Amino acid sequence: MTKEEFSVTPYEVTGQVDYDKLILQFGVKRIDTASLARLKKHTGDHFMLRRQHFFAHTNLDKVLDALDKKEKVYIYTGRAPSGPIHIGHLFVWTFTKWLQDRLNATLIFQIPDEEKVLFKDDLTFEDSAKWTRENLIDIIALGFDLKKTRFLIDTKHANVMYKLACQVAKKTTASTVRALFGLKNEDNVGKYFYTTMQSVPAFLPTVFEGKQTQCLIPCAVDQDVHFRLTRDVAEKLGYPKPATILSKFVPSLSRDSKMSSSGEQAIWTTDAPKEVERKIRKYAFSGGKDTVEEHRKLGGNPDIDVSFQWLSMLFEPDDHKLASIHDDYKSGKLLSGELKQILIDKINAFLAEHQKRRLDAEKVVDSVIAQHF
Ligand code: TRP
Repeated sequence: MTKEEFSVTPYEVTGQVDYDKLILQFGVKRIDTASLARLKKHTGDHFMLRRQHFFAHTNLDKVLDALDKKEKVYIYTGRAPSGPIHIGHLFVWTFTKWLQDRLNATLIFQIPDEEKVLFKDDLTFEDSAKWTRENLIDIIALGFDLKKTRFLIDTKHANVMYKLACQVAKKTTASTVRALFGLKNEDNVGKYFYTTMQSVPAFLPTVFEGKQTQCLIPCAVDQDVHFRLTRDVAEKLGYPKPATILSKFVPSLSRDSKMSSSGEQAIWTTDAPKEVERKIRKYAFSGGKDTVEEHRKLGGNPDIDVSFQWLSMLFEPDDHKLASIHDDYKSGKLLSGELKQILIDKINAFLAEHQKRRLDAEKVVDSVIAQHF
């Protein structure tokens, strides 16, 4: 694969992603100024929108029409439990919580606890149950309004889902799934079926409300592949096509396109301040120059600097502050070590709070899991 090549599927992201090309490849739309203005009328502004970290969508205008008409709109997102939560995961959920609050919407939060069991050779249902609980602690700690959030755990709530999943499956051929997800003949049939389970929650708003109801799905752009299939079958089954609002990937510390859960390079939500500091200092890919003299003279490159990207995507909502960090780094006034320190302090301040909220979340997580859907 050459430098310009990249590939994005829900199960693998390789190369440096060119988001303009991806928009064409995926057949999604850029969020243009007109749609953004319409959305902001209902939600207000958010730095992730303003900075185009959420950059693309499908069918957003249908949701906006519904909002304009004061119709009820649902939000839907999810997490396949397969390991601990890292900083990158929080990106879409932070936005989702904000959206839920601003729209006062019901959120369906799917926990497809079979997905990674089917996709990863060594992951068992016991592992997945453990990660379901553990991940829910982080999700609850983010402060989702529990009265308006319904957690849909696939193996537990299969009764709510299975019939609909089969209806989706009936309209979907193996060759479509193979092409969309890059599957092979040798892959287990569970991998072929799984995507139908990810379609189901997009239709549940209409089932619950007993009338056509719009559903907005905030997610990273790779997940749109699932929802392309959902859109294709929606009308055949008599449901509205769901809308997606799509984000770029949070880069890993080493600046791979997407932060992965393997290796020790991720920052976990349970990391202690010293760990955070060590990892950022050691692994955060720097756009700075090799020596202080050179850096002072030539300046750094914030566009490829992971610490700067993380500030922009997650930790520095203030545009003025971000711009001065950007300019000072570019001019050489701000050194790489200093930029890293800004990030370390931000992450540690966030984690101190988050870890406190995790303790409260621990107290309610079992009752959340025990809930009927
Ligand atoms: N497939 C997602 C993952 O790998 C989980 C998921 C299920 C999801 N439903 C979703 C993600 C809806 C975003 C939106 O974690």
